[in-house]
Amino acid sequence: MTQFKAQFDEIQNPAVNHLFWMNGLQEYLQHKNHPQLETYNKIKKALLYGNVYAMQDLCMSEIRRGHINISDGFIRMLFNQYTGYEFLSHRKVLQYISHCIDDEYIRMISSWSIENGKKASLNDHFSRGQMLSKLWMVDQLKVLFPQNRLGTIAHYGGWYATVAQHLFQHFEIKNYYNIEKDHTCLHISESFNRVQRNNNWQFKSIGCDVNDIHWKYREEEQDVKPGDEYFIGGVQNAQEEYIEIKIMPDIIINTSCEHMDETWFNNIPKGKTICLQTNDYFSNEQHINCCKDLDDAIAKYPMSKTIYTGEIETAEYNRFMIIGEK
Ligand SMILES: C[S@@+](CC[C@H](N)C(=O)[O-])C[C@H]1O[C@@H](n2cnc3c(N)ncnc32)[C@H](O)[C@@H]1O
Repeated sequence: MTQFKAQFDEIQNPAVNHLFWMNGLQEYLQHKNHPQLETYNKIKKALLYGNVYAMQDLCMSEIRRGHINISDGFIRMLFNQYTGYEFLSHRKVLQYISHCIDDEYIRMISSWSIENGKKASLNDHFSRGQMLSKLWMVDQLKVLFPQNRLGTIAHYGGWYATVAQHLFQHFEIKNYYNIEKDHTCLHISESFNRVQRNNNWQFKSIGCDVNDIHWKYREEEQDVKPGDEYFIGGVQNAQEEYIEIKIMPDIIINTSCEHMDETWFNNIPKGKTICLQTNDYFSNEQHINCCKDLDDAIAKYPMSKTIYTGEIETAEYNRFMIIGEK
């Protein structure tokens, strides 16, 4: 720990810069109108801004709860802006948050962070924009599929696939495949969705560039009926043997369109249901295929039947969503 800083005007501990993911969790709790949102906001004020009233309230709550072996660490974290406490790992902060906030999704993020907190990029993944965009998608799917059945999902470029948990919670899902070309995401996403992963691979990540997916059509194989088109995903089992999985998605989700060209879309058979998101965040260097507005997105990803189109504004960009049948 660096030397104690008494001056109140010095409250700016750079160690909190990697905690901006707290904004995304705030959006999540706000969205579900969580009864402990106020407590969460106090935690954020204390940790990120050194708000003394928030620190005082949270310390009093700790005293009332009684001392446990991790209480000292919690108090050090709360005072970080004045003491320069540097050891604010994702894991520890999430442990404190889930100690104070009773929420299953937050508990999942916390336990997942024990193994993945250093590998995963939490600031990007749980940014306000990412969180809002995913919750918006889940909300719209709930409206459009009121029978609460999504069948088999192929999530193209699903990253850490934390949104899968919101979908598992609200929908009957036969299988959820995260088709990801970044192999580091495969384990990270399976770890987040380990309950479904361990349920006979109800959730499974597959290492593959979605532009290389080879769909089996009727024209190629006489036994493939329209609607039954499928592709083969290759994975390794626990014995490191190569296994082929037949993937026949009822819906293809792609929330990463800005990261790839349109080959993936052009290859999808006609009639398949697709839910896609893209954005106008041109200044992000990872984005190679943004859209200037919703009309641009609609023209780029034409559907034979459009079920939903819309846009939301986030702090840094606008996000567009199209749901329809190709
Ligand atoms: C930074 S993330 C996702 C951001 C996006 N807005 C979202 O919310 O999901 C983009 C993900 O797409 C994946 N990706 C990009 N191009 C891909 C491709 N051709 N095939 C499979 N995955 C791809 C990347 O590996 C990465 O995990």
